[in-house]
Amino acid sequence: MHTYPPLHFAQKDTVRHTKTRKGSSVANAFLHSPGWKIRGISRDALSLSSLAWISKGVEMVTANLEDVESLKAAFRGASVVFGNTDFWGHMQDSGTYERARLEGRSANEVARDREIEQGKHMVDAVAAITDSDEGLLERFVLSTLSDCQGWSKGAISFNQHFDAKAAQVEYLRRVYPELAKKTSLLQMGMYMSNWETSSVPRPARQSDGEFKVRLPIGGDVKVPMVDARTDTGVLVKALVELPAGVHLVGAGSCMSWNEWCRVWGKANGVACVFERSDRMELEEYMGATGREFADMFQYVEEFGYDGGDPGVVYPWDVSFHSLIYGGTFANGNTAQGGHQGDHRGGIHQEAGLVLGTCGRPNLRSAWRRQNFNGFRYN
Ligand SMILES: NC(=O)c1ccc[n+]([C@@H]2O[C@H](COP(=O)([O-])OP(=O)(O)OC[C@H]3O[C@@H](n4cnc5c(N)ncnc54)[C@H](OP(=O)(O)O)[C@@H]3O)[C@@H](O)[C@H]2O)c1
Repeated sequence: MHTYPPLHFAQKDTVRHTKTRKGSSVANAFLHSPGWKIRGISRDALSLSSLAWISKGVEMVTANLEDVESLKAAFRGASVVFGNTDFWGHMQDSGTYERARLEGRSANEVARDREIEQGKHMVDAVAAITDSDEGLLERFVLSTLSDCQGWSKGAISFNQHFDAKAAQVEYLRRVYPELAKKTSLLQMGMYMSNWETSSVPRPARQSDGEFKVRLPIGGDVKVPMVDARTDTGVLVKALVELPAGVHLVGAGSCMSWNEWCRVWGKANGVACVFERSDRMELEEYMGATGREFADMFQYVEEFGYDGGDPGVVYPWDVSFHSLIYGGTFANGNTAQGGHQGDHRGGIHQEAGLVLGTCGRPNLRSAWRRQNFNGFRYN
């Protein structure tokens, strides 16, 4: 499992990733829970960020998703493992481009293959826990995304970071059916914070002072969005406490880009609007990465972020204590001002006002909206 830092955690001995956005969130969620010991993995357990986790009481070990034996050693004795792999890290690695050149393929296709390979290492290593005498594993939570090629019946073929994760799930189910019975899947929504780290979807200031987001998707299409740093831990905790086999979409709310612009503008005290763009603009601007983003937005618009998978549930479908009292689900974050500031929480808190069902008819969602401040869990 790749916990990002690859994050595995286990009751009494949890393994987990602590440097990544998702990994950090999971570590923090379990760090404050009695009865849990957290082990984080990093390619460098002596790095400054690793040392920061050690100072908080997390055991950090050096392990690499490229090296299955290092993962087996890192996962040993864990009762829970949270796994995550990073497609975009491969897209920033010169080795990916060199291999693409030699193989006459796009970097995205090579990054997909590398992510699948690392995911298989992680799954193999988690399976080794179940096979070992220690046999303590109670839950494997795998961070994934929907099967774009499958749900679109091949119509959308270049959404590689989705397909790489779906391939890991297929491998897990095919090769390790016993481990699959102990597994729950977390399909993370789009990060509300993407605008901070990527030019897509960063609002661009126009000559009249207004901000604009331009993407090749309809402005009213609902998308599951999440505050990865705050919500991932809450979601993973719920998946550990619920029976195995849950396939959860990690969303704090479902909102359209029109709504996102409205709340981003409000949080920053500026006007911000959305405008649909042509996919070719993204492709010309970002090359193959633009093509990948364009395919993702087309998939979300035509098939839904979850591909229309009838097997997934959303947080508001799952009445559970940790989902209600943690993360942005409980309006736990605060809005801070200024464009340079951290607005993930602010936007997300605002997003709570537009909590939706991602286009699915869902009575529990409506019920939950009405009871947002007085929720009783089952
Ligand atoms: N952005 C979105 O909207 C979104 C939505 C859903 C899903 N996702 C998916 O989320 C994934 C990224 O997760 P994130 O946001 O949590 O990542 P992140 O914050 O960028 O962190 C990545 C971490 O992975 C660790 N790592 C990288 N390569 C490793 C290796 N070979 N062995 C061990 N650890 C390694 C690194 O830790 P060390 O440096 O300490 O080794 C790094 O801290 C991507 O695959 C993306 O597709 C993103």
